[in-house]
Amino acid sequence: MLRLFLVIVVVSLAFALNPAAAAEKTLTAAVAIDPAAPAVAYDRMLFGGFLEHFHRQVYGGVFEPGSSLADAKGFRKDVIEAVKELRMPIVRWPGGCFVSAYHWKDGVGKDRQPSWDKAWGVEESNAFGTDEFVEWCRLVGTEPYICGNAGTGTPEEMSDWVEYCNQTKGRWAKLRAENGHPEPFNVRYWSVGNENWGAHEIGAKTIQEWGLFVRETVKMMRRVDPSIVLTAAALGDDWNRSLLQHAGENLHMISIHGYWDYLWVNDNPSDYAACMVKSSEPEGSIVTVERLLDSTGFKGRITIAFDEWNLRGWHHPGVMTGFGPAEIKARDRNDFNGTYTMADALFSACFLNSCLRHADTVRMANIAPVVNTRGPLYVHPKGIVKRTTFHVMSMYANLLGPQVAKAAVTSDRFGDVAALDAVATCDAAGKDWRIVLVNRHATATLNCTIKLGDKLVTGEYQATILSGDSPDAFNDVDKPNRVVPQTAKLRFTDGVAQLPPHSLVVLEIPGK
Ligand code: AHR
Repeated sequence: MLRLFLVIVVVSLAFALNPAAAAEKTLTAAVAIDPAAPAVAYDRMLFGGFLEHFHRQVYGGVFEPGSSLADAKGFRKDVIEAVKELRMPIVRWPGGCFVSAYHWKDGVGKDRQPSWDKAWGVEESNAFGTDEFVEWCRLVGTEPYICGNAGTGTPEEMSDWVEYCNQTKGRWAKLRAENGHPEPFNVRYWSVGNENWGAHEIGAKTIQEWGLFVRETVKMMRRVDPSIVLTAAALGDDWNRSLLQHAGENLHMISIHGYWDYLWVNDNPSDYAACMVKSSEPEGSIVTVERLLDSTGFKGRITIAFDEWNLRGWHHPGVMTGFGPAEIKARDRNDFNGTYTMADALFSACFLNSCLRHADTVRMANIAPVVNTRGPLYVHPKGIVKRTTFHVMSMYANLLGPQVAKAAVTSDRFGDVAALDAVATCDAAGKDWRIVLVNRHATATLNCTIKLGDKLVTGEYQATILSGDSPDAFNDVDKPNRVVPQTAKLRFTDGVAQLPPHSLVVLEIPGK
């Protein structure tokens, strides 16, 4: 008896000295799903992407003529196959800041002359233009989404672009046919401008200028093709208010962007714990814009395109001071795969969960970018590396059900955030469940219960788990599969299942 007493004393003392140890041993969380509440069908465009003429996203990314890994047109075949695995529904192009001084007519036709890329301070060969982008999209099976130049461009130039892509008559439609494409491209999605609210953008505009400029541009674009889906660059309260007042009647969406680890000037990535705190912030951005749409009477008429998002801001020092050789060279730092760890994976999962929870207002989201820079797919001359975020995008695109159900989450904390972030998806009948569970905690297993209606989930189910061997695990050229999804059986003992530390779990509960 004395020995047992001593053991109890020692263990209790250990916990008393280290409450964190005590807490970690018994972290708990719960998900209560209400199958009776109406579920919301989300738009798969939440799993979209973004491709900009920046560093090696296009040249040396999707397009590498002469590479042994490219087809006869110069498209990297391994990249096409990898992006097809993501079943990516839409890709935005050509920028981003790049577009605000880009003239699309330089990038079509047989005689392509190089131009100076004023956004990024390099020469643009124009070898990859509208025809190549649309063709790449068809090969990948994704919808092209074109962002127009509202910096140095004009409403007429953007409406000419619509004519080139979608019309059968007119000089620009004729030019497309002469360029070998008699049939219209039928590009459905168009954006007016990119971040023209910001001093960093070429051709930035004031609040007053922006609403009027967008009004005139969307008017002209719709006169060429009234069926196109239109969005425009937007920001916080004042910008959206003026934009909506002048152009809201002719917009289907407004576009917002988000990067939460600011690395443009100094490439010093935040650590895992700091990134987990950031992972709760995107939902606040969404709620702010929802409130504005509501207060201006546009909620339900205009939806949100989160058409650039990434935990990590791109590294490109010199944006406001000018790009010398050192600043251009510094962009190579975006290629360091060690930056993109389980922090990026779980931030991305929480970001997508935030969009899914607001699926009635957020109808598009585009990871920035798809290829290279800070994107999920790293492309090098001899192959590709699927970064941790690639596997997240693949799990969401391929494993989730088509509707988001009502679910309440309670959870112990990991620092300043809840340890558990979760979303319940289901099929149209509400019978087949795919539940997304993110354990943000770096070291603790999460004892999780799930209630479906009034019943605790019990038994054993198929699960797909992405966790890596540490919060800082990443994939690289020499270790491409250090972090890959694993399928396993997740057992609920007395209604409790254990979620591994720093993990994304997609749990499959098939309909009976
Ligand atoms: O850092 C890349 C830039 O981020 C994109 O070109 C722009 O749209 C955003 O500010």
